[in-house]
Amino acid sequence: MQKIVFSGVQPSGMLTLGNYLGAIRQFVALQDEADQAYYCVVDLHATTVRHDPKTLRDYTLMVSKLYLASGIDPNRATIFVQSHVPEHAELAWLLQCVARTGELSRMTQFKEKGGDKETVSVGLYTYPVLMAADILLYQTTHVPVGEDQKQHLELTRDLAERFNRDYGEVFRLPETIIPDVGSRIMSLDDPTKKMSKSNPSEMGRIHLLDPDDIIEKKIMRAVTDSENVIRYDPEKKPGVSNLLAILALVRGEHPEVLAEAFSGQGYGALKRSVADAVLEVLRPIKERYEHLTDEETLKILREGADRAQAIARKTYREAAQAFGYICRESS
Ligand code: AMP
Ligand code: TRP
Repeated sequence: MQKIVFSGVQPSGMLTLGNYLGAIRQFVALQDEADQAYYCVVDLHATTVRHDPKTLRDYTLMVSKLYLASGIDPNRATIFVQSHVPEHAELAWLLQCVARTGELSRMTQFKEKGGDKETVSVGLYTYPVLMAADILLYQTTHVPVGEDQKQHLELTRDLAERFNRDYGEVFRLPETIIPDVGSRIMSLDDPTKKMSKSNPSEMGRIHLLDPDDIIEKKIMRAVTDSENVIRYDPEKKPGVSNLLAILALVRGEHPEVLAEAFSGQGYGALKRSVADAVLEVLRPIKERYEHLTDEETLKILREGADRAQAIARKTYREAAQAFGYICRESS
């Protein structure tokens, strides 16, 4: 069976080290292993909360460039913008008629984003169904994501299974790929919370394009604890463990092994090593980003959308036909 990888990132802010270590690095590795890889900039998802149109346009281009700068190769993977392939919204409608209000009401991300308020958009409620459509359109076998997306992937499988059972085998059931370490990089100023691009505190997150001195400052000021003992224990020592996890991911080592190597040293030494390692891993990304023009990026996105749409259209038609919508050609 072909290995088909799909994933997406919202253009809702500057990408963080959490996005990079939790998701994008896997995207880069998987483009070589997979028979097909699709990496989408999910602008439709980014409009489920209040947004500024100009900022959305800027971030859509920026995330696309960061995909490229991080090492996603448009010859090996298809990079595209979700709204350029209208089948995403079309299949989402069909799947909304398969999804149940009960299961969408139970989505933790919806609840966290204020799902109990009457003022949130209907789009925020149906967000996971659109995500299922993204994945199912490409007959995806593997979806690399961070821990926070696990429940959405379970829903995707449930919807695919229900559709296949009730209307005929159209969709393949995807597997989730969540890294053991790095699936949840924590905020530097509050290690009990996820490092997030929408977090109001700038000190908690490292942006991939932050200048070197700012990155150093954020890491050197990271919140730890007063024990001054280096040990990997995410429950009891979230700050130190987060630093060990970041260093381990960047160096390709295990956090427990690193903790041993640092034993007897102070937190300052650990932070220094983390800062050096992060600066080194981000340097080539920043350099490549600077050299990418809007024109070449837009061209890659156009070609990506063409390739993606050819596949998406085929799956959508199969699903629509199975569901009972008659084809325009045959009507
Ligand atoms: P988002 O920022 O919500 O568009 O997420 C894009 C991808 O990055 C998803 O696969 C997330 O699970 C992943 N991600 C976001 N924040 C983190 C984090 N702090 N640690 C690990 N992965 C993350
Ligand atoms: N919901 C995902 C996030 O916030 C983004 C996303 C949208 C996605 N569609 C997807 C991820 C399909 C993987 C596959 O991170």
